[in-house]
Amino acid sequence: MTVNSKGTALITGASSGIGAIYADRLARRGYDLILVARNKARLDALAERLSDETGRAVEVVAADLGNKDDLGRVEKVLRTDASITMLVNNAGIGATAPLLASDIDKMEEMITLNVSALTRLTYAAVPGFVKRGTGAIINIASVVGIAPERLNGVYGGSKAFVLAFTLSLQNELADKNIRVQAVLPGATATDFWDIAGTPLEHVPSEIVMSAEDMVDAALAGFDLGEGVTIPSLPDATDWEAYEAARQNLIPNLSRSVPAARYRVGG
Ligand SMILES: NC(=O)c1ccc[n+]([C@@H]2O[C@H](COP(=O)([O-])OP(=O)(O)OC[C@H]3O[C@@H](n4cnc5c(N)ncnc54)[C@H](OP(=O)(O)O)[C@@H]3O)[C@@H](O)[C@H]2O)c1
Repeated sequence: MTVNSKGTALITGASSGIGAIYADRLARRGYDLILVARNKARLDALAERLSDETGRAVEVVAADLGNKDDLGRVEKVLRTDASITMLVNNAGIGATAPLLASDIDKMEEMITLNVSALTRLTYAAVPGFVKRGTGAIINIASVVGIAPERLNGVYGGSKAFVLAFTLSLQNELADKNIRVQAVLPGATATDFWDIAGTPLEHVPSEIVMSAEDMVDAALAGFDLGEGVTIPSLPDATDWEAYEAARQNLIPNLSRSVPAARYRVGG
């Protein structure tokens, strides 16, 4: 192998779709891998192919991140394996049905995976990164984090959490040499859609990107040093204007008096 190791990337949801492409691309970039998901057979097959093709060390951890004990095992790996230099928080599930057609227990499962597991894994990884003075976290959010009207609202809300959490981490870890990127994919051609309740064939093809293109674009954004990457967005200044408007609100969001338009009897 000609590429030196860049340390180990732990990727959740690596058994299919976007996570499996991250595994492929990061192995080719010189990372050893720890692949996490429930489907061990798929993880083993991917691990074997990638270690054959790239010569990198690829480990598999079969775990249901919605289960506290399994999640705890993965947290322990992140806390104790000092070779880990990157965490890709990718495992997630979606839904396309509106509130009135959704099962609250399924919604809670989604929050547990998309929000709680991602949060616990981040808390497990960051202290080691800070101690070692280096590390990167890639959080897979979604464009529905800023467009929650487009799909199931709990899914959009869970991805808005991922974006807000990422922005806060960027701020907290800015001086610690730790990169944190939020990736906001639009519709991407993976099993996600079938599992979420709308077969991919029912999604207009002009809004669907391949998982390969999505991940390659997201990694190009990472290489550019972006904190937030929206692979589909043609004009980066649209995001910059959105973010500038948000920053502009901040000084006025907390004041000792209500705004004039809300003053009673004024
Ligand atoms: N596809 C899109 O249009 C789209 C758009 C925006 C954002 N995203 C986000 O992209 C991420 C990856 O999704 P994808 O599109 O690649 O879909 P996918 O092909 O269905 O992949 C989801 C991955 O998460 C794993 N996973 C699901 N439940 C899990 C659990 N309880 N514990 C551990 N792993 C679990 C799955 O593996 P196992 O079944 O083996 O556990 C699989 O590897 C998600 O966070 C999703 O919200 C997708």
